[in-house]
Amino acid sequence: MDTYTFGPLTVRRVGFGAMQLPGRGVFGPPRDRDQALAVLRRAVELGVNHIDTAQYYGPDVSNELIREALHPYPDDLVLVSKVGGRRDDTGAWLPAQTPRELRSGVEDNLRSLKVEQLGAVNLRLMAEHELPPGEQPPALEDQLAEMVALREEGKIAGVGISTASLEQVDQAIDTAGIVCVQNPFSLLDQHDSAVLDRCQEAGLAYVPYFPLGSAFPGMPKVPENGVVQRVAERLGVTPAQVGLAWLLAHRENILLIPGTSSLAHLEQNVAVAGVVLSDDDIVELETGAVG
Ligand SMILES: NC(=O)c1ccc[n+]([C@@H]2O[C@H](COP(=O)([O-])OP(=O)(O)OC[C@H]3O[C@@H](n4cnc5c(N)ncnc54)[C@H](OP(=O)(O)O)[C@@H]3O)[C@@H](O)[C@H]2O)c1
Repeated sequence: MDTYTFGPLTVRRVGFGAMQLPGRGVFGPPRDRDQALAVLRRAVELGVNHIDTAQYYGPDVSNELIREALHPYPDDLVLVSKVGGRRDDTGAWLPAQTPRELRSGVEDNLRSLKVEQLGAVNLRLMAEHELPPGEQPPALEDQLAEMVALREEGKIAGVGISTASLEQVDQAIDTAGIVCVQNPFSLLDQHDSAVLDRCQEAGLAYVPYFPLGSAFPGMPKVPENGVVQRVAERLGVTPAQVGLAWLLAHRENILLIPGTSSLAHLEQNVAVAGVVLSDDDIVELETGAVG
């Protein structure tokens, strides 16, 4: 399987996102705990060495499952987390963006995953519509400075940024030496192409979230797209594999972290490393699937 770098670390391009492991709405315990543990163990058996997580998935659920399933970790496993958010008792997603909250977010991850250092941690910014009315986030400069301090203390190998505009990515490249960007992007949502271009030019990993259109209602699902389904049928693969193979073919610096709680879906997603799209397939997807 192809690899790409996260600063000093190298990972296989097909990784795993742990957000689908907790209960519905990424809140509370998993529907099937044994299966969640089995999915994590199988991912590693199949060669996955990059797992994306967050303390606030559950909260506390994804990280505890990862530790229970996989600790002591294989030497090459890169655990990537994110800070900047928290959950309340109802499962609402709230900002936790002050430098102090970022620091305690990293420390919570270190404790729950039982590691001395995280492979990378994304500073998860909040889009304006995600902030409570009237609330302003702390200055980006101050947030990045805290992430850099955490890296200098050895708690994080690399700093990343998530849900960031091109301007914010530029600032993070210039002042924090980031190793990755995690923004939403898929065959059906290519709004972030300018950031992807910037990452490629700078040699940074671009890790799209919602690569299949997410589990949240109201967002177009890649596996349900008619053109994707037609190409999949012709190639004898699944529609999800077509969507993921398109991302792998699109740019060499794209790393995949599809999220699933299903063993069958996990196996399909990892096998995407062997799915080859022809130039004609790509043209058909790019002209047809996005309308
Ligand atoms: N930085 C951020 O703010 C942020 C935000 C969101 C997500 N993330 C990260 O990005 C990762 C990926 O995003 P995501 O999990 O939200 O969305 P996603 O990977 O686009 O889609 C997940 C959905 O696709 C389904 N699925 C997965 N594999 C499939 C397959 N082979 N065939 C059919 N359906 C399939 C899953 O259902 P099943 O469980 O039934 O397979 C789930 O409903 C997350 O796990 C998380 O680590 C980061």
